Amino acid sequence: MQLRYTAAVVISMIALLLPGATVEGHNITSILAKFPEFSTFNHYLTITHLADEINNRQTITVCAVNNAGMSDLLSKHLSVYAMKNVLSLHVLLDYFGAKKLHQITNGTALAATMFQATGTASGSSGFVNITDLKGGKVGFGSEDTGRTDATFVKSLHELPYNISVIQISSMLPSAEAEAPTPEPAAVNITSLMSAHGCMNFAEALLASDAMKTYEDNIDGGLSVFCPLDDAFKGFLPKYKNLTVGGKQSLLEYHGVPIYQSMSMLKSSNGLMNTLATDGASKYDFTVQNDGQEVTIKTSIVTAKIVGTLIDQQPLVIFTINKVLLPKELFKAALSPAPAPAPEADAPAESPKSSKKKKHKSPPASDSPSDSPADSPDDGVADQEADSNSATEIKGFRFAAVAVAVASSFWFASLVV
Ligand SMILES: *[C@@H]1O[C@H](CO)[C@@H](O)[C@H](O)[C@H]1NC(C)=O
Ligand SMILES: *[C@@H]1O[C@H](CO)[C@@H](O)[C@H](O)[C@H]1NC(C)=O
Ligand SMILES: *[C@@H]1O[C@H](CO)[C@@H](O)[C@H](O)[C@H]1NC(C)=O
Ligand SMILES: *[C@@H]1O[C@H](CO)[C@@H](O)[C@H](O)[C@H]1NC(C)=O
Ligand SMILES: *[C@@H]1O[C@H](CO)[C@@H](O)[C@H](O)[C@H]1NC(C)=O
Ligand SMILES: *[C@@H]1O[C@H](CO)[C@@H](O)[C@H](O)[C@H]1NC(C)=O
Repeated sequence: MQLRYTAAVVISMIALLLPGATVEGHNITSILAKFPEFSTFNHYLTITHLADEINNRQTITVCAVNNAGMSDLLSKHLSVYAMKNVLSLHVLLDYFGAKKLHQITNGTALAATMFQATGTASGSSGFVNITDLKGGKVGFGSEDTGRTDATFVKSLHELPYNISVIQISSMLPSAEAEAPTPEPAAVNITSLMSAHGCMNFAEALLASDAMKTYEDNIDGGLSVFCPLDDAFKGFLPKYKNLTVGGKQSLLEYHGVPIYQSMSMLKSSNGLMNTLATDGASKYDFTVQNDGQEVTIKTSIVTAKIVGTLIDQQPLVIFTINKVLLPKELFKAALSPAPAPAPEADAPAESPKSSKKKKHKSPPASDSPSDSPADSPDDGVADQEADSNSATEIKGFRFAAVAVAVASSFWFASLVV
């Protein structure tokens, strides 16, 4: 028994360490921090959150520009969204070290960029043309302009074939990347949801005070996990059964009061507070990823992120395949007694009206220390909740232990 458990832990450790390797990889912020003349470029990689996305990618080339070269761009006073597009045009989704740059087959290559990967770029505007010029020079231009606007200066950091950081002489101009993007506050989130498979959730939102909570939080950062219609339709009978306050809490439970892009979610497992979190009513859930898939776990259900409707800092809306059921509202599903649990409705109803709806607090830290509190319920959850989520609850508790063991093992091996 004990032996089998140990073997299972070891297997999980191996499974966890494999995707874990990507997290232990490069850190563009600290790579560039060694070069003070790139501090402006580095600063904007951070505030646009591109740094996180770069750290989560392999086989890439960052074309950095020094502080003097950044001044032209800064004088354009772009919004942070446009800035992100411009900088993402300078991240090539292929590895180009100094040597490869000077030995390009046929002397020219077209490299897809992170701007292309956002889906914002139209036509070929997300590609960079690299051309070997006379005298050993290497030219760079956005395919958009059809010109060579910058040249290779020097290599700053090479880690074949994970990341190459090079200096180019100036920023690549691109009308498309610099174009003003609509303010996220001007986006009608419910019509966006309705048009992309989340009409039932959008209609519920429009009929509830939760809509105001969402609107109030967009400017300060908002991540929404929006159940697709198939999932929400099946849930409607239960939803209609909730009190007005319960409905509001359920809808607010699907929003997190900070901006979390997909790549940020992929590098930050742990507990998250939601728009419904209010003092004693925790209304939190756990984000977990296996390196590829990101899942949201409540004590009752595990939902998977299946798509992104909009990712425009400070607003991001993901679609998920199940409705998130908070234990604060659906504790009955966890309790063995068939009688309706009176607590189920209580926390949702009373404090709602007086509640201040502007959430500023960052989500709780990523310690899984909360989970043991739920454990007495788990056996029952197996009977009531759908089998899929029940096994995942157990799996998660187990994985949490394995993570703890694995990380101490990992650090121990670093120390040695
Ligand atoms: C490159 O990335 C891979 C995959 O994450 C990793 O296993 C490898 O150690 C990295 N290479 C170096 C030299 O860090
Ligand atoms: C990368 O390095 C910077 C500064 O060196 C640090 O603040 C940041 O937390 C690091 N990021 C990751 C993902 O480790
Ligand atoms: C290089 O040029 C030759 C002849 O024009 C062509 O057949 C080949 O596909 C080119 N190679 C690349 C990698 O573009
Ligand atoms: C890059 O641009 C040059 C000149 O503008 C052009 O001759 C070349 O064909 C382009 N390369 C590719 C791969 O499109
Ligand atoms: C957003 O669109 C919905 C229809 O989906 C409409 O009912 C609502 O009034 C719109 N909101 C704003 C602020 O325009
Ligand atoms: C609605 O609530 C009633 C009373 O609490 C309960 O008997 C019924 O099963 C609930 N219906 C659904 C669909 O949850």
